Amino acid sequence: MKSFGIKTKIHFGDNALERLAQMPYKRVLVITDPFIAKGPMIQMITTPLERSGKAYEIFHDVVPDAPVDKIIVGVQKMLDYLPDAIVAVGGGSAIDSSKAIREFALNINRYAEVPLIAIPTTSGTGSEVTSFAVVNDTAAQTKYPLVSPSLTAEEAILDAELVKSVPPAITADTGMDVLTHAIEAYVSTNHNEFSAALAEKAIEIVAVFLLRAYLDGNDTHARQKMHVASCLAGLAFDSASLGLTHGMAHQLGAQFHIPHGRANAMLLPHIIEYNAGIHKDSRSQSEYHPSVKRYSTIALKLGLCSYNKVMSVRSLIQWIQFMNQDLKIPARISEIGGISVNDYMSKVEMMADAALADSCTATNPRTPDRESIMEIYRNLW
Ligand SMILES: NC(=O)c1ccc[n+]([C@@H]2O[C@H](COP(=O)([O-])OP(=O)(O)OC[C@H]3O[C@@H](n4cnc5c(N)ncnc54)[C@H](O)[C@@H]3O)[C@@H](O)[C@H]2O)c1
Ligand SMILES: [Fe+2]
Repeated sequence: MKSFGIKTKIHFGDNALERLAQMPYKRVLVITDPFIAKGPMIQMITTPLERSGKAYEIFHDVVPDAPVDKIIVGVQKMLDYLPDAIVAVGGGSAIDSSKAIREFALNINRYAEVPLIAIPTTSGTGSEVTSFAVVNDTAAQTKYPLVSPSLTAEEAILDAELVKSVPPAITADTGMDVLTHAIEAYVSTNHNEFSAALAEKAIEIVAVFLLRAYLDGNDTHARQKMHVASCLAGLAFDSASLGLTHGMAHQLGAQFHIPHGRANAMLLPHIIEYNAGIHKDSRSQSEYHPSVKRYSTIALKLGLCSYNKVMSVRSLIQWIQFMNQDLKIPARISEIGGISVNDYMSKVEMMADAALADSCTATNPRTPDRESIMEIYRNLW
C-alpha cells in the first residue's frame, strides 16, 4: 500500500506573512541565522508578531549545514523559553536546525505540542514541507538526513520578497538543488503519480525561471515562480525520496563544505549517466535500464527530446551541464580552489561508504556499488 498526504498548510501569495499576526500562538521562538537576524528582513517577521501582541525571542545561532553542536544550544534555548510555537526563518540550514531542535527538545520534555511554522528565505531545499532534516555530525565528519513525519512543519509561509536579497551564486546553487530534488524524485524507486506530477511542474518552472532569477534578483515574477517550484519539489521528494546524487552530495558538504545545491549540480550529470548506464564511450545495448525511459520523459517535457530515448537522456545531461555553465557552477572539484588533490582523494573511500549508508541512496533507481561511487567521486575531481 502507498499513501500520499500533505501535512503542512501552505500560505502563499500577497500578504502571506500576515499569517504570523493571525496565528493563535502567544509565545514564539524565532529561529534564524545571524545574517537574517541582523538584516532588515527580520522586521518582516517581528512586525506582525508585535502588532498582534505576541511575546517572542530570537535564537540566531544557526550556521550552514545544521551542525549538531549548534542544535544542542538551540534545544537548551527552547527548554529555557518553553515557547508555544516555533517560527523558523532562513534557508534549509535554519529550517532543518529548527526541526531538529523541536524534535530533540520535546523528546527531553514534552511540555506541549509545539507547532513549527517554516518560512524559507532561499528557493532551494523545500524543507518547509518535508519530513527531512539534514544534520552535520561534525565529530564523525558526516552529514545525514533525519527522516520522520514528526519533523514536518505544521505550516509554511512562502513570501518571495524574502528571497530577493539572495545573491546570484546562492540563487544558482539553491535553484539547482530544486532541479535535483525534482529529477531524483521523478526517477526514484518510490516514485508515484502524485510525486511525479509535482516533480514535473517543478522541473518545468526551473527550466524557464532559474536563469531569469539568477540574472536579475529583482525579477519578482521569476523569484515567485522559483519559490513555488522549490516547495513543489520538496513535496515531490517528501513522497518519493531522493537518490544517489544527494547521498554523495551530503559527503562533499560534510568533508569540504561545498554548498549543498552546488554539490548536487556538479554530481547530477554524472549520476544520470551512471543510472542510465550510458556515457560517451558506451555502445548501443539491446536493453536499457528502466530509468532511461523516465529521464527521457523529463527530456520530452523540456523539449529536449531526440530521435531515440538514449539520445534524449544525453540531451538532458547536456542541458544540465549548460545550466551549470551559465550559472557559473564549476564542473570539477579541482576548479573550486582550497581543496588539495591528496586530501580529496584520501577521503574518497570514506565518502563512498557514507554515501552508500545515506538513506537518500536507498531509493536510487540503480543500486550502486562502492567501486562505482568511488569512481564517480574520482571523476569529479
Ligand atoms: N530538509 C530538507 O528537506 C533538505 C533538502 C535539501 C537540502 N537540505 C539541507 O539544507 C541546507 C542548505 O540549505 P540552503 O541551500 O537553503 O542554504 P543555507 O540555509 O545553508 O543558506 C546559505 C546561505 O544563504 C544565506 N541566506 C539565506 N537566505 C538569504 C537571503 N534571503 N538573502 C541573502 N542570503 C541568504 C544564509 O545566511 C547562508 O549564508 C543543507 O544543510 C542541506 O543539506 C535539506
Ligand atoms: Fe537537496
